[in-house]
Amino acid sequence: MIKIAVFASGGGSNLQALIDAQDTGLFKGKIALIFSNVPDCGAMKRAENERIEAVAIASKGYPGSREEYDAEVLRLCQSKKIDLICLAGYMRIITSVLIKAYPFKIMNVHPALLPKFGGEGMYGHHVHEAVIKAGEKESGATVHFVTEGVDAGPIVLQGNVKVMGTDTPETLAEKVLKVEHHIYSESVRLFCEGKIKVVDGRVRVSL
Ligand code: GAR
Repeated sequence: MIKIAVFASGGGSNLQALIDAQDTGLFKGKIALIFSNVPDCGAMKRAENERIEAVAIASKGYPGSREEYDAEVLRLCQSKKIDLICLAGYMRIITSVLIKAYPFKIMNVHPALLPKFGGEGMYGHHVHEAVIKAGEKESGATVHFVTEGVDAGPIVLQGNVKVMGTDTPETLAEKVLKVEHHIYSESVRLFCEGKIKVVDGRVRVSL
């Protein structure tokens, strides 16, 4: 059984989608840990309701470096024997301390069709604002592996939505979130079934 940690900093709707997918038996994995850098975020409240072990370490005011912070998070994941880390609205760039310990075992969901609208500063509503401003007719969501370089790792799955002239960042975010929930659960299913391989920096999914 693949042991999964979900990292979140916000409302936690992706976390909830993964919990629901687990509960309906979509993937053969167990969410064994919920981690947050924001102790009072919505995701932590969801964790409480679900009775899944949840740990928060406030990043705001943390006395050490980013690497020291991640070393603490790594020790936590190793102590729980975590196999896969899912970043689900985790608003913190992770360092090589975690990335090297979990090569192609950390996934992230991004609210756009990468490689477009990714990189530093492109998160949450900023992404949807930029998509609308650019006059894009299509947007979507991407699940990718985390490598060094923001939003740059091999893409696992993507899903599209149409951008209408009447869309606002809020309505677009709502449509994109639905896609995120679907492709994230599917990506975790594929991972748990051992169907994902990374070859020459690209993901190959075997069916
Ligand atoms: C999601 O749209 C996710 O893609 C985005 O934050 C939101 C979290 O929502 N993540 C990023 O922008 C990371 N670059 P949630 O807390 O409801 O899952």
